[in-house]
Amino acid sequence: MSWELSEFGRGLCTGSGIGELMEDLGAALAAGGERMRMLGGGQPAHISEMDAIWRRRLEEITAAPDELEHMLGNYEGPAGNSEFRAAVAGLFRREFGWKLGPENVGITAGGQTAFFFLFNSLAGRFADGRRKKILLPLVPEYIGYANQSIGGDLFRATKPRIEITGDHEFKYRVDFDHLVVAEEVAALCVSRPTNPTGNVLTDDEIRHLADLAEENDIPLIIDNAYGAPFPNIIFTDATPLWNDHIILTQSLSKIGLPGTRTGIVIAREEVIGWISSMTSIVGLSNPNVGQAIMHPLVESGEVLRLSRELVQPFYREKSERAREWVREFFDDALPWHVHRSEGALFLWMWFEDLPVTSRELYDRLKGRGVLVVPGNYFFFGLDDDEWPHRNECLRVSFAMPEDTVREGLRIIAEEVKEAYGQ
Ligand SMILES: Cc1ncc(COP(=O)(O)O)c(C=O)c1O
Repeated sequence: MSWELSEFGRGLCTGSGIGELMEDLGAALAAGGERMRMLGGGQPAHISEMDAIWRRRLEEITAAPDELEHMLGNYEGPAGNSEFRAAVAGLFRREFGWKLGPENVGITAGGQTAFFFLFNSLAGRFADGRRKKILLPLVPEYIGYANQSIGGDLFRATKPRIEITGDHEFKYRVDFDHLVVAEEVAALCVSRPTNPTGNVLTDDEIRHLADLAEENDIPLIIDNAYGAPFPNIIFTDATPLWNDHIILTQSLSKIGLPGTRTGIVIAREEVIGWISSMTSIVGLSNPNVGQAIMHPLVESGEVLRLSRELVQPFYREKSERAREWVREFFDDALPWHVHRSEGALFLWMWFEDLPVTSRELYDRLKGRGVLVVPGNYFFFGLDDDEWPHRNECLRVSFAMPEDTVREGLRIIAEEVKEAYGQ
């Protein structure tokens, strides 16, 4: 007999749709071994120049008096290492002119933990019985948010406008005509660039959302895991924005340090106080290693050069190659569309009026040794279950080695053609 679970336990201990999918992906990978083409995960690529920098930094830390001992042997304060926080504030101040000090910067165990803290402290059940929600102004949105609630449904979402922007190319836009910031909305949240689509909300869209946040006196959470100034996996002009109604989150994962679990929250001092309090309760303090590796690179601004000169061109090139292969392999006569690739690690493909669901397509592709993520998982928080678009999309990572991506896309094109009955 199993032990009874609380509401929190029922929400977090018993798995989730995406959890099952991840296990399925893991099992397929284990069974298929080397033959499996893994285009499903959010794993960043190993860029050899960046790996060399991490190695060099660890050698420097080891060689310096006390640095290794400090990194491994100390609990930092729950908001993070104070010098690292000051270095981050200084970098953003110099780069964007924002009025930030170390009190506006808080560290978490990865960006994922920052979202868990922020969503559950701002939304959910309130002492007087009210319930509040996080509003996603545009879905599809990052699947990692979907199951983070510690009690009940946490999200509301608005369908996007779909704009055809070129031959077989489209872009989602925020549908401001239907975006309603109702009384129950505790915060707005967007990822920019967006996982899964590679969309970058325009400066106008971000400005408009920031105005809505300010008018309603709620935060706009901008998830900058792929954005400027680091890792800068962004291929279009976009101006970063922060003010004291904006909570900006950064991560060290996509620049190449996912194993260090380092997230950075930039917000008004009060929010950093909440983050620090939650960290001390849940985990005492945060991992030190990412902060120690990155500290001099942030302080000197070297991280900006690395992001601009190595990381961004690396992924831009990968995105371009992947789109070339799509054009080469996909039948021009079929109604396929790729979201405009403006950043992040993914191509988001839409197969209009596809006769099978994206979940069925996923299964067929798995049978052919190609692992992707079916798009339906990214449309959470929407009322409209009937919207066919939800079941017509796939997320394909282009971060893997060239042969894997090319062969994977060739097989996807074959299966899609078959699914259309061609
Ligand atoms: C949009 C987005 N936000 C946040 C995260 C969380 O990253 P981490 O917890 O590794 O910092 C990810 C990871 O894939 C992501 O894609």
